[in-house]
Amino acid sequence: MSGKSIHGEWSSRWIFIMAATGSAVGLGNIWKFPYIAGENGGGAFVLVYLLCIAAIGIPIMMAEVMLGRRGRQSPVYTMKSLAKEAGAGKNWKYLGWMGMLAGFLILSYYSVIAGWALGYTVRSASGMFEGQTADGIVSLFSEFISDPEKLLAWHTIFMVMTIVVVARGVKQGLEKAVRFLMPALFVLLLVLLGYSMNTGHFAEGVSFLFTPDFSKLTADGVLVAMGHAFFTLSLGMGAIMVYGSYLPKDTPIAKTTITIAVADTLVALLAGLVIFPIVFANGLEPGSGPGLVFVSLPIAFGQMPGGIIFGTLFFILLVFAAWTSAISLIEPTVTWLVEKKGMKRLYAAVTMGVLTWLLGIATILSFNHWAFEFSFWGLTKENGIFDMLDVLTSNIMLPLGGLFIALFAGWVMKREHAKDELAMKRMLWFQLWLFLVRFVAPVAVLVVFLNAFNVFDRVG
Ligand code: TRP
Repeated sequence: MSGKSIHGEWSSRWIFIMAATGSAVGLGNIWKFPYIAGENGGGAFVLVYLLCIAAIGIPIMMAEVMLGRRGRQSPVYTMKSLAKEAGAGKNWKYLGWMGMLAGFLILSYYSVIAGWALGYTVRSASGMFEGQTADGIVSLFSEFISDPEKLLAWHTIFMVMTIVVVARGVKQGLEKAVRFLMPALFVLLLVLLGYSMNTGHFAEGVSFLFTPDFSKLTADGVLVAMGHAFFTLSLGMGAIMVYGSYLPKDTPIAKTTITIAVADTLVALLAGLVIFPIVFANGLEPGSGPGLVFVSLPIAFGQMPGGIIFGTLFFILLVFAAWTSAISLIEPTVTWLVEKKGMKRLYAAVTMGVLTWLLGIATILSFNHWAFEFSFWGLTKENGIFDMLDVLTSNIMLPLGGLFIALFAGWVMKREHAKDELAMKRMLWFQLWLFLVRFVAPVAVLVVFLNAFNVFDRVG
């Protein structure tokens, strides 16, 4: 197994970093991380999330990139051929299948939320937030999500945008979309940080995010934190595997992966540092759910000088961040359809896009006509199908996918092959990685699962 992927190859290591960072940095960092941190009490949750990134996320990300680069195909075929190479059974290909399913389910709601960001770009630009009170902004949001037709229109536009880029292929589409936008987003977040430091309750925000209070952390909170480590790094469903399959042979995987994970984490923490001071300064509820960013930031944009420009720019960049992530959610399935069915890229992208678009309607209705409460273990959620899809994918399918990726890389794949692919300068680093994927990551995932299912309580 050598040579290049039939789907193309990145022009350089730098482009891979940009594309993978584009995949990792998205709504997960700016929309999801703050609201789940808020729901789960802040500090202790954030600490567990950071631990999961370091001890589980990074080693599994290295494993996923490595498998992709060695297999050079869609996740299903990559797993199939790598299993064959290692003399293992055929069932590993189901890992690829589960990944494609997870990507499909995630994209269906991801596109709806990205649609909110599109809608908020227009709202910002039209000056809708100027001079509004916090209450006014809150009702603007509830009015927005209670209108399914509006949400459908934005969801449709976002899906079309995604299909267009995916249809054009790796070089034409993906590379161009990521080159300038990620750095711009980062800079804008720094500008907003300046605003939060000056006008928000900054100290309160910092202490909420970074002072761990373990009495607020539940077993489900730990599961959500771990699930989010997978979600935010785009792990466990083959997206990073596919991106790895376009990676030139001589690229150092460890260094590259760590760069991506650090960048992703910085963006999430930065988003939290921008949002929570505004939340506290305006008496908002940190645990108010998926609307958190769409309420807190517009309050700030409505008050700050140049708010129309900053607000519009912010939502545009958020749309781009979501766009580069959405592409990676659909890419594994599209490569599979091209390989297996010999479909043209264009048809593959359109087929998947339409199916995802249809399922997205269930999420749209979760915020209005079909809204119902649903509790998973201890946590009560208000937006029925949307929350179910999110819990199922982020907290179950991705960690499960990651678990099997770790097991495959650590126990099934021949050790020389792994060593050869990772090509670490020091043996010690390789051994550390091996220890993490063989023992630490799988055990951690299992313990968190069992803990959330209350198995320990029943035994104890
Ligand atoms: N990581 C992206 C975000 O934080 C979402 C995403 C893109 C993703 N590709 C993925 C999540 C693959 C899980 C699996 O917004």
